[in-house]
Amino acid sequence: MCVNLGILPHIIEVYIATVNIATVAVPTENLSIFDPVSPVSTTIRDLFMLVFGVIGIIFVVTEGALVWSIFRYRSKGDETSEPPQIYGSNPIELAWTVIPVIIVFILFLVTTRTIYSLDLQEPPEGALRVKVTGHQWWWEFQYEDLDITTAGELHVPKGVPVFIELRSFDVIHSFWVPRLSGKTDAIPNRENHLWFQADEIGTWYGQCAEFCGTQHAKMLIRVISEEKSDFDLWVANQQLDAAEVPTPLHGKEMFLSLACINCHNIDGVILQGGFAPNLTHLMSRDTIASGAAENTPENLKKWLRNPDSIKDGCLMPNMMLSEDQIDSLVEYLTTLK
Ligand code: CUA
Repeated sequence: MCVNLGILPHIIEVYIATVNIATVAVPTENLSIFDPVSPVSTTIRDLFMLVFGVIGIIFVVTEGALVWSIFRYRSKGDETSEPPQIYGSNPIELAWTVIPVIIVFILFLVTTRTIYSLDLQEPPEGALRVKVTGHQWWWEFQYEDLDITTAGELHVPKGVPVFIELRSFDVIHSFWVPRLSGKTDAIPNRENHLWFQADEIGTWYGQCAEFCGTQHAKMLIRVISEEKSDFDLWVANQQLDAAEVPTPLHGKEMFLSLACINCHNIDGVILQGGFAPNLTHLMSRDTIASGAAENTPENLKKWLRNPDSIKDGCLMPNMMLSEDQIDSLVEYLTTLK
């Protein structure tokens, strides 16, 4: 057998790179479906516990009877004849048909009721509407009622229902923030809906849950729930155009002269892209690259130097910029608060 070892070092390299990023920036905490902070995820957890409880009891009863009979009725070595042979028993057969049918029927009813109670097609009263679009490999959040477009991090007020209109720009993705809601697919040319309500203040992690290409694993979501007053401040800032640069900044001209503008929008400066995250308030976000790295000047430089070093295979090209160009661009980007 001939084994091609040529690709092995590359696989190991990619694996090590993945592990490095995973240990540095990708949050693994806070993903438990057993620890809900939203009525939706609480309902799903309760249904899961009911089903798990019922099948757990069935498992214990049937396996218990099996184990018990193995020991109770094993041969003691002194039998002189076969035990009595029983052929058919109407009461027993009726019991083991009717009881499972009743159990399945009850689980069916409870599950159906839960699905219908959670599957809202219209926003609940007083809900915040957000249009969420899955892209390879990042999430776009548009608050159309508030005239805000942002990426990667979804801010919501605590205790207010959030109604999400979910769609995809390219392939099928799946929006999943386990502590807030169940999974819902984002499908091209179709709008799906989900809702949740964060009843506590915090940052709730999630991620794309449908394989969508190279960087599926780094298509992370952060939902930041905050007091209404903090949310209103965030909204007021997001609604502003990009901050005016006090002195003519070399990096701004550079941004406008390079290919950046083909994909990225900056409100009040340039609006012709839209295929990539809106950068108007880039520095108000904690992470870049859909949660793959902390949003620091160092990581922005690393990203511009070679995006693949943070997200291997991502769609942002390596523009082969010089260190001077990178420094100027980052100087400009860090003004976008
Ligand atoms: Cu998007 Cu997986």
